[in-house]
Amino acid sequence: MTFSGFYKKTREERITILKEAGLLSQESASSLINKELLNVDIAGQMVENHLSLFALPYSILPQIMVNNKTYSVPMVTEEPSVVAAASNASKIVMQSGGFTSQILKREMIGQVALYDVEDMELATKSIDLKKDYLLQVANAAHPSILKRGGGAREISWEIKSESGLDFLVVYLSVDVQEAMGANILNNMLEALKAILEELTSATALMAILSNHATNSLVRASCKIEVGTLDTDLEQARKIARKIEVASIFAKADIYRAATHNKGIFNGIDAILIASGNDWRAIEAAGHSYAAKDGKYKGLSTWIYDKENDILHGELTLPMPVASVGGSIGLNPSVKICHEILGKPKAKELAAIITSLGLAQNLAALKALVSKGIQAGHMKLQAKSLALLAGAKTDQVEEVADKLRQAKHMNLETAQKILIEV
Ligand code: HMG
Repeated sequence: MTFSGFYKKTREERITILKEAGLLSQESASSLINKELLNVDIAGQMVENHLSLFALPYSILPQIMVNNKTYSVPMVTEEPSVVAAASNASKIVMQSGGFTSQILKREMIGQVALYDVEDMELATKSIDLKKDYLLQVANAAHPSILKRGGGAREISWEIKSESGLDFLVVYLSVDVQEAMGANILNNMLEALKAILEELTSATALMAILSNHATNSLVRASCKIEVGTLDTDLEQARKIARKIEVASIFAKADIYRAATHNKGIFNGIDAILIASGNDWRAIEAAGHSYAAKDGKYKGLSTWIYDKENDILHGELTLPMPVASVGGSIGLNPSVKICHEILGKPKAKELAAIITSLGLAQNLAALKALVSKGIQAGHMKLQAKSLALLAGAKTDQVEEVADKLRQAKHMNLETAQKILIEV
């Protein structure tokens, strides 16, 4: 099925298309049409000092191909042009066979930090000798994960020194299966804390999951036939080379790296929110991974192979997402997101999300090194400006059209146009 021009349909037509494509049940389609949201009483049980509900636009990237399978991806974002950009780049990459994504590992790491260690050598030897026992203690603290095929896998330690203090840090790596794993890890680590204190004759400072999730890495890559980047092949080649240079620049300059990675997270955050995942955790994981070499760098790499006219893209980052737990079973919009995606398991979801991040990066870089970001972004921003100026929904298109032709596209111009309309 082709989704070309999907964005020109009405909201109701889009929902019908998804239903006819078998991605939405009748019940979920009606729920979207009727804008059914999280029940307010359930919301009140989820958080503290609750007042009401907070709304954001719930959109769809019509088609992205990952590991030879196509997905429609729900995206929650307030920012104009993010969904259009992701759709645009996914369409380009699909012409060259889509994205390939590999799960490099899927375990979560937690740590018990010890200090005031009486004898570091003795303490570390004691940990090494008792590794099997410590793993058993960890597993006994959260036995349900063993039944699901997961459990504590590895114990290691490192000595870290700062401001005259020596820390003995004990790391636990756990296979958390479909969960994000924070509760599993924290239960296990808290069970280990007192035992480690005794074993090492040290003081335990804290026991907590780490969001520097280096045992949960996912790689997405794509090979784009350069001719698909522009109708003019020479122009397409220039764009490919500039995208390569832009990815090198994002590794050279921290000011650029932060923006480059923000662009990647435009897409990643949008699906994380839609799928009920903890986007703060994934943001923290992505940014700490970007600084893993001691310097904060752009997360993606683009290489232009001139001989074969292929642009290679790659994005590797931690993606410890969940397909169960948290708010996933409580929020109807989140349930619909998983339904539209075909109820993927955590690893498949991580592959889709990482590919979307790379698509989002491609769209931004392609725009930046060719027409500039404002052409596409501001074209779509015009509607938000029209609304901000006070345009009614039936006036938005007309005001936005005039605004796009105006010399200065800003709120003041939008307000002037609205008076004329
Ligand atoms: P275009 O070339 O004018 O688009 O791009 P087109 O009309 O040729 O359409 C191509 C495809 O784009 C369409 O295929 C759609 O998939 C999609 P079709 O359906 O026609 O077969 N598309 C749309 N989808 C939904 N709604 C729309 C729409 N228009 C096109 N209205 C486009 C226009 C905006 C897509 C392009 O200029 C673009 O990708 N720009 C990048 C914009 C961007 O990255 N925005 C993110 C916000 S800016 C930011 O925060 C990040 C940044 O700072 C990061 C960084 O610096 O790295 C930039």
